[in-house]
Amino acid sequence: MKKILVTGGLGFIGSHTVVELQNEGYEVVIIDDLSNSTIDVLDKIISITGKEPLYENLDLKNQESVQQFFKKHNTIDGIIHFAASKAVGESVEKPLKYYHNNISTLIYVLEGMKSNKVNNFIFSSSCTVYGQADVMPITEDAPFKTAESPYGNTKQIGEEIIFDTTKVSNLNAIALRYFNPIGAHESAKIGELPIGVPQNLIPYVTQTGAKIREQLSVFGGDYPTPDGTAVRDYIHVVDLAKAHIAAMKRLLENKNNASFEVFNIGTGTGSSVLDVIKAFEKVSGEPLNYKIVDRREGDITEAYADTTLANKELNWQTELNLEDALATAWKWQQTLK
Ligand code: WQD
Repeated sequence: MKKILVTGGLGFIGSHTVVELQNEGYEVVIIDDLSNSTIDVLDKIISITGKEPLYENLDLKNQESVQQFFKKHNTIDGIIHFAASKAVGESVEKPLKYYHNNISTLIYVLEGMKSNKVNNFIFSSSCTVYGQADVMPITEDAPFKTAESPYGNTKQIGEEIIFDTTKVSNLNAIALRYFNPIGAHESAKIGELPIGVPQNLIPYVTQTGAKIREQLSVFGGDYPTPDGTAVRDYIHVVDLAKAHIAAMKRLLENKNNASFEVFNIGTGTGSSVLDVIKAFEKVSGEPLNYKIVDRREGDITEAYADTTLANKELNWQTELNLEDALATAWKWQQTLK
């Protein structure tokens, strides 16, 4: 049985990926410092799959601790690296926190892999590396634009660090550039746990639906899009999780065409904010209280993926659509206090 280390494995995307790894028969080791998650997510994972991952509460910013971890665990076959901070707005206010959390940790993990001769690495990247791409849908060869935030910069730098490392080592790596991950596991036992006021659209929508928030502010109604609101590619987190399994299988079976590959992971369909609201109202069965306000600083007009490469090379397709994702997000929201 192959053993996979999942850093950030108790987080939103990490926990869903652990579930899918276990479903596929992988043994899982989780590292998570609980800075953006809670330990009961571990129990929820176990209650879904009936299998207990190994869990270590370890701060990846502590180089010594990372080295100790790799000394202790020398039978890891691959690593999926989620551990990072991901709040765009916060990254603008606290850039050094983001460069520590997202870059130092990556370097320490890569060093640990080298010492243990672990050569299969999946990196959590983001469509944010493209900024506002010039052509839709976005392909993997679209150029990086100047990052809109330190968060986005850490994803661009992270990919470059990995690429440079693959050139001088036996490391084989895949960067998955996520579009907008949404939804929750069908069991409603795991999902997105925003801390404080949600920055992302879907948690704010579901909290408004649950009357936790008074009204959703739609940031901008004057974009050059069909209905004036910004367009994104909202992908169900379970489909996204499955893309990680497909990518890891590709490396474990030595099917990669290069030592560093990137894939856009989205649905290939763009949805506007108003599309999301309409779909949510259909799912929840009641109108959503919203108002259109000024644009949010730093937002782009539209982004949706060309998924041709991922479909072909990873043999992976999305199976769930926007309404499926919103239905699971709504079911999850209703379990929260
Ligand atoms: C989506 C759309 C907003 C909130 C960011 C990161 C990306 C990834 C996902 C980490 C935009 C609009 C939002 C609200 C709104 N993060 N919106 N009212 O900005 O596309 O992507 O989060 O991996 O890397 O860049 O996602 O959910 O914040 O916004 O109208 O209260 O919803 O303007 O058009 P975004 P988002």
